[in-house]
Amino acid sequence: MAQRIAINGYGRIGQCVLRALIERNDPSLEVVAINELSGLDTITYLTRYDTTHGRFPGSVESRDGHLLINGHPIRVLSEAEPDRLPWKALDIDLVLECSGSFKDRATAERHLAAGARRLLFSQPAESDVDATIVTGINDSDLTASARVISAASCTTNCLVPILTILDEALGIEHGVTTTIHSAMNDQPVIDAYHQTDLRLTRSAMQSIVPVDTGLARGINRLMPHLAERFECLHVRVPTINVSAMDLSICVQRDTSAQAVNRLLQEASNSRLAGLLGYTEEPMASIDFNHDPRSGIVDATQTRVAGGRLLKLLCWFDNEWGFANRMLDVATRLNQLPRALP
Ligand SMILES: NC(=O)c1ccc[n+]([C@@H]2O[C@H](COP(=O)([O-])OP(=O)(O)OC[C@H]3O[C@@H](n4cnc5c(N)ncnc54)[C@H](OP(=O)(O)O)[C@@H]3O)[C@@H](O)[C@H]2O)c1
Repeated sequence: MAQRIAINGYGRIGQCVLRALIERNDPSLEVVAINELSGLDTITYLTRYDTTHGRFPGSVESRDGHLLINGHPIRVLSEAEPDRLPWKALDIDLVLECSGSFKDRATAERHLAAGARRLLFSQPAESDVDATIVTGINDSDLTASARVISAASCTTNCLVPILTILDEALGIEHGVTTTIHSAMNDQPVIDAYHQTDLRLTRSAMQSIVPVDTGLARGINRLMPHLAERFECLHVRVPTINVSAMDLSICVQRDTSAQAVNRLLQEASNSRLAGLLGYTEEPMASIDFNHDPRSGIVDATQTRVAGGRLLKLLCWFDNEWGFANRMLDVATRLNQLPRALP
């Protein structure tokens, strides 16, 4: 039976999730509702036309409060308070929480109280969620009793698989990462007030903007044996999609750039196939737009200094790769017994 899905927050990730579902042609997941504070006309328009991923690959219409995707009706709601959503009446199995406005268990439970059986956050969320899943790494943490889940972040999904491979083979001592991230909708086009972060008041088009990141906390949670051994920076750059992870890692055993590349290439062809990519071609960020993998190692940039200090560059489509990881988690949830209402 198809899992009945509601998307809460239909911005970049919400839109990519719906479109990725259509492109994956997976009949086990059915989007039956979208809750977004904007109006149906705008929602229809932004589904049909997408500057980053191109025109929607199918028909997009609207009628009687519904978005019609290839004729399939999706109820569109506009409700800011989760407990007022009609999840019980719509028999929702899973809410994909993509609004970015909520990340705590208390909010998730408002969706559950409204009748949804499970909720999956599109961000790391607080530590009291039932599971934080990085696909390909800790899938078995997803059990039937899990009701509030997180698909981690695009950066965690890029980084943790690489760290796992390197740690197993070479033993990680410690590391520093810099995420070079495309602009996001929490930045203004030109300078404007922002509620939390002074640097987010600055034009996204004109500067490289450092912003806070919780990536080190994500590593602590997912790889507790490496807890407190990583420091992470994050800068936003004036591109609209695709990001890069710059890693500097100290390992316990001597190695070479060739050996590191071989390890990661092998993983990309075996246990992490479809999730970790590997390229030796001279590529630029735009070449990874619409790439569904969690990260792609750019082997041309791998360096090793003194045998134990590694430098790597890994590309990832922060929107499309992550939207696909959310669907991976949703698909696996469908293989577990249905959660009680
Ligand atoms: N973009 C990425 O690359 C990326 C990658 C991985 C994870 N994420 C995470 O995914 C989340 C969403 O990011 P995004 O880039 O998709 O942001 P976005 O483009 O700003 O989309 C969020 C959408 O949710 C709507 N919204 C806000 N509060 C709502 C509420 N109470 N109920 C229903 N809808 C609500 C917003 O509407 P208004 O604009 O009207 O407020 C907006 O359309 C964030 O937590 C982000 O960290 C993003």
